Order: sequence, then structure tokens, then C-alpha cells
Amino acid sequence: MNHFGLSRRNALRFLASAPLLSAGALRAGTAEEFAAGLARDRRLLAFATPRAREVAAPLRTVAGRLPAELTGTLWRNGPAEHDRFGHRYGHWFDGDGMLQAFTFDGTGVTHRGRILDTPKRRRETQAGRRVLPAFGTVPPDPDAIRRPDDMNAANTSALAHGERLLALWEGGSALEVDPETLATRGFVRWRDDLAGLPFGAHPKRERDGTVWNIGVVINPRPMLLLYRIGPAGTLDGFGHLPVDPLGMVHDFVVTERRLVALLPPFVVEPERFASGHTSFLDAHAWRPELGTRALVFDKDTLAPVGRHALPAGFHFHHGNGWEERDGTIHLDVCQAPDPQFVLRDLRAPMHGEWRFPSVHPGYRRVALRPDGAALIDDAAPGVTEFPRIDPRRVGLRHRRVFVLHGPGPTESGPATWVLQRIASLDPDGGVVEHWSYPPHQLPEEHVFVPRGPAEGDGWLLGPFLDVARREGGLHVFDARRLADGPLWEGTLPYPMPLGLHGTFVAG
Ligand SMILES: [Fe+2]
Repeated sequence: MNHFGLSRRNALRFLASAPLLSAGALRAGTAEEFAAGLARDRRLLAFATPRAREVAAPLRTVAGRLPAELTGTLWRNGPAEHDRFGHRYGHWFDGDGMLQAFTFDGTGVTHRGRILDTPKRRRETQAGRRVLPAFGTVPPDPDAIRRPDDMNAANTSALAHGERLLALWEGGSALEVDPETLATRGFVRWRDDLAGLPFGAHPKRERDGTVWNIGVVINPRPMLLLYRIGPAGTLDGFGHLPVDPLGMVHDFVVTERRLVALLPPFVVEPERFASGHTSFLDAHAWRPELGTRALVFDKDTLAPVGRHALPAGFHFHHGNGWEERDGTIHLDVCQAPDPQFVLRDLRAPMHGEWRFPSVHPGYRRVALRPDGAALIDDAAPGVTEFPRIDPRRVGLRHRRVFVLHGPGPTESGPATWVLQRIASLDPDGGVVEHWSYPPHQLPEEHVFVPRGPAEGDGWLLGPFLDVARREGGLHVFDARRLADGPLWEGTLPYPMPLGLHGTFVAG
């Protein structure tokens, strides 16, 4: 189906006019070119499909001791099934999601993982080929998308809330998963009239158990959605605001009284997306003249109460937000000058090229003042992504952010991943300390787990891929002594591709 009557020829003309796209960027990868790339560069194992759809094994202790009081499960999610039916996706964010559990029982860690059984994947199983458009790739002769969940890969993050374990995407519904079997139970319907509406991948949980989230709707009318989920897991509030144009809004922050969404000027041009032959990513246009728009919402009414204008920039993630008594809102953001890294760099490894020339989001601080002024400045040098904070500080002033970090593409050279360190940042003081991963270990986002009462007193759990041993692994750090290196290192008997986000559930 061609939703808006745009011919394929016209769609291609739109694409040809997009200045940010490099030649060949839109095609899928091939297994052959990826295999050739992997033979040249073992780091590409980070983007290889797991050998089995389900995996389970205990981790083997390589070094150190596990803290006995650290018990619970680290849930991880990420695109994993990059190849299926001989078709390889062309963007890192496309693959069908694999949910993983690292379970700590006080003496050891066991691992389980399963490619999630989504309606999208089931439909492709039935067809015997890839038939549904993904985030950045459209397979040959695709089926029509009738609703966003038709292409829901459930591959971005995980949330445990109100007795439910959810695998999150961002363009559609949350997917409920059985925590024992990792079988899917179905999409969450927060309210009957909200079925199928997008539920973002970065929900925020406050101390009282309330979870906030956003969603972005593009068709038939661009809208930002706001969700308030009570501690028991039921919807307590819902808001929506038409915003035109609208595009990628991946994260947001909460403060004591406000929700704040920063809208990068990377916006969907509906006529591009309507063709049915253009991926969601490629339907976006970079329009720096729009600047970055900040929208501020009241938490009680979910109505907009402020708008601010910032210079153009592209970002995915925030660390945290908080507000002063005078109403000034502070937040941090991992911001890049433009979206080249998602448009181009995160495609290269799918084609067998280890090349990230423009992966350069930096750690920046934003202040939104009640008089409408908005300020942004650099808060730390280098490349910064995957920020996490002590979850007890959500919406409150924070003094620590834990990030993957690198000195920058020009300095890091060809031998390392651009995010080769785990670092502790002070929003006002830059890098406090860091530990550098060895070149053969590629780290993922590290999740903070509280221990003592003070902010930052806890552990950091860091999955990694060891490309020399061809094994997945996990580090446990003392979050206040990162520079000392991990307290414990364990490895898996198989490799796992790099994932995106996760959450820890104590128990
Ligand atoms: Fe994210």
C-alpha cells in the first residue's frame, strides 16, 4: 500500500535530494560483504547475529570476586538478529531484539538470552523472508505497514514495572515478556483508546514509583505523547500535543514539577515516509534552521508551560534534569553537531566496515530559564554516550553521570572503538575518573546499582564483547573507584552482539 499516493520514482527523487545521505547508504547489507569485513576486522563481531536464537550459560569468573550482596537481574536489550533468510539489515538499529538476563545470586552470574517473538518476526517467519520495513532498511518488495506495531522489533530497552517486564522499542507499543521463559505475552495496552500508540524507550522512574514516558506519533498528524504510569503499573495520566514538524525525540527528562523534551531539528518529511519504500530513518530531513526546540510540560496537567529555543544539534540521550527554586531547569545531553553518526556511521559496520568518522556526541549542559532564555555549554571533553545516573536522583540535582567515553575520533586512532572508556562525570566538573577498556573489549552501556545511601555509592554493571576471545562478558565496578578497574570479570562461552540499554531489578 502506498499511503499517500507517492510513486516510487518520486520517493527516490526525494531521497536523491537529501544532502546528508552518502551513496549506497540506503541498501541492505549482504552476508558476504559482512563476512569479508569480519575476516579483516574482528571488532565487527559486535554487529554479528548470534548463532542461536536462544542462549543460556553461567558466566565463568576470569578475575576478581563478586560482591555477595549484589543480587538481582540485569536485563539488557538490543538489536541482535541482523541477518535472517539471507537478508542482512543495513543499520545497527534494525535487527530483531534480543532480551538478555544476567542474574546475580550472590555467588555467581548466569546468562539467558532470546530473540523476541514479535508479531513482526512471526509474520516474516510465515513469509519465509523479511517483508517489513525496519528503522533504517526496507527489504525488497515490502508488505504494507498498517500500524506502527507491524514493524515493532522490540529491540531498544527494557523496563520492569508493576510486576511486568517490558521490552521497549520507541515507534510502537511496549512488549510484555515472561521473565522466566522470555516468551512474549503481547503488546501492552495502557488504555483501550491508546492501543498501538508509541511508547518511548527511555521511561523515567521517580522515587515514589511513578514512571513517566513520551511517545512520538508521525501519522496522520505529528504529536508528542506523554504517559504517567502509577507504581502499580496502570496509566494515571496521558497527554498529547500536536508538534509540527516532528521527528526523532528519543529521550526526555523529568524534574520535580516538569517534563522536558528537547526536539532536535531532524524531522520527518511525511511525503518521504509515505512512499512505503523509504525507511523511517531516511524519511527524516536535517533542518538546522529550526534549531533545537525545548518543550516544557507541567507534570500535574501534562499541558505545555514553556518553550525555549536552542542552537541546532542532534542527540539521543540525557543524563538527568532538575530545577532550581526560581524555576530554572537544568539538564544534560549527549549532543552532536548533526545526525551524521546515525545516518551514516551506524550503517557502515552492517556493510563490514569499521568506520565511525562522525560519532562525536559530547557531554553538554542546558539551562532553561523562566524568562525564556536558554543556555547550552560543553561540560566535558571527548565523546560521550550512554549516560546513566544513580536512579535515586531522577528529577533531582545529580552530581554523577556514568558514561561511555572516548577522547574523540581524531585522537583515538584506528585501533579502538570511539567509546572505549567507562567514565564518571560531574556535571559541573567534567571527568572525575575513568577506566579504559583494553582494545579487544568493546563495552556497552553500564548500569548503576545502588549500595549505600549516598549518591554514587553502588556498582556499575558493564556488559562487553571480547573480540579476541570471541566471548561476551560482564564487569562489575565499584562506581566510586572506577579507575581501579573492575571488581569482577566474567565471560560467556559465546559472543553477543553489542546491545543498547538495560535495567537492573534487585532481588
Ligand atoms: Fe536510547
